[in-house]
Amino acid sequence: MTQTYSSIGSGALPARVFITEVGARDGLQNEKQPIPTPVKIELCQRLLDAGALQLEATSFVSPKWVPQLADAAELMAALPRPAGSRISVLTPNMKGFDAALASNPDEVVIFAAASEAFSMRNINCSISESIERFRPVAEAAHAHRLRLRASVSVAFGCPYQGAVPVESVVDVAKRLMDLGAHEISIADTIGVGTARQVVQVFDAVSRVVPLDRLCGHYHDTYGQAIANIVASLEAGVYRFDSSIAGLGGCPYAKGATGNVATEDVVFLMQGLGIDTGLDLGKLVDTGQWISAQLGRKSMSRAGNAMAAKRQQAEAAAA
Ligand code: HMG
Ligand code: MG
Repeated sequence: MTQTYSSIGSGALPARVFITEVGARDGLQNEKQPIPTPVKIELCQRLLDAGALQLEATSFVSPKWVPQLADAAELMAALPRPAGSRISVLTPNMKGFDAALASNPDEVVIFAAASEAFSMRNINCSISESIERFRPVAEAAHAHRLRLRASVSVAFGCPYQGAVPVESVVDVAKRLMDLGAHEISIADTIGVGTARQVVQVFDAVSRVVPLDRLCGHYHDTYGQAIANIVASLEAGVYRFDSSIAGLGGCPYAKGATGNVATEDVVFLMQGLGIDTGLDLGKLVDTGQWISAQLGRKSMSRAGNAMAAKRQQAEAAAA
């Protein structure tokens, strides 16, 4: 039998990637159990200490919709701000922006969906209405010289609509860029995307948004996130969101599990010889620590393997 081969991209890899740690926000927003604010503060402190200077800390959203993050102001007031750090918060509307502003973030994040059905479930309005709702937020961010990041949810599939046309992703990404977003995450909210689709989506979106403003945000529900990151790298993307210990999920995407684990991404990048600026040992400690706080095992494969190896070495030395 003759084999046929195809490529998922050019194969050229960057020397450095930029990772935004979203564990404290995307990771914890979905937790049902109450998490004490001091635990969240310690999580952020540990992450910053591990070099996770681009840190998405919390959301200024309705506490009725996302009760877990109702302590946003308290958390922000307690965060250290090491040199070079960029603390960001989600702000879905002006009410959220005004509350966020008082807490002095470096960056605010707006988020629109690539499917109408998901937009209604997540932020209770249509895509076009959401863009109009973000317009004053974007203008206020620019006026206050805050960096503006944006996210396109369900870019690879929607729990309500199913398949999402690439054109919808391109359209929403373009509208967010027109609002002046400095960076746009293309998000696989329910983790269904696969490598070829990733290349197709980034190829299409990069025709309207420069590649250096794009970021890959992958949930790992179907175990595709690391493969999708490799495909993204080959497509020229060098910004990624990830979550310590693979924490996360979205309250409006039932069954969606966590984001790709930061430890796994850093392990991958080390293997590829790509600099992340992150300390993998400290990340592993942090991932194990927060998982213990939540009373479950970390979802990071690399984190668990490295922790087990360390324990073995300690037992052998004792
Ligand atoms: P709404 O009900 O349509 O808006 O919510 P509303 O203006 O009618 O307000 C309802 C109530 O919420 C009012 O209080 C408002 O004051 C209050 P009441 O009068 O009933 O007492 N309210 C707020 N309170 C605090 N902060 C605010 C705020 N806004 C309104 N900012 C809204 C609209 C967007 C606020 C709501 O739908 C909401 O908060 N949704 C939560 C969305 C969310 O956080 N989703 C998860 C994050 S997105 C995500 O995870 C995806 C991402 O990771 C990428 C990916 O993976 O896809 C980024
Ligand atoms: Mg997410």
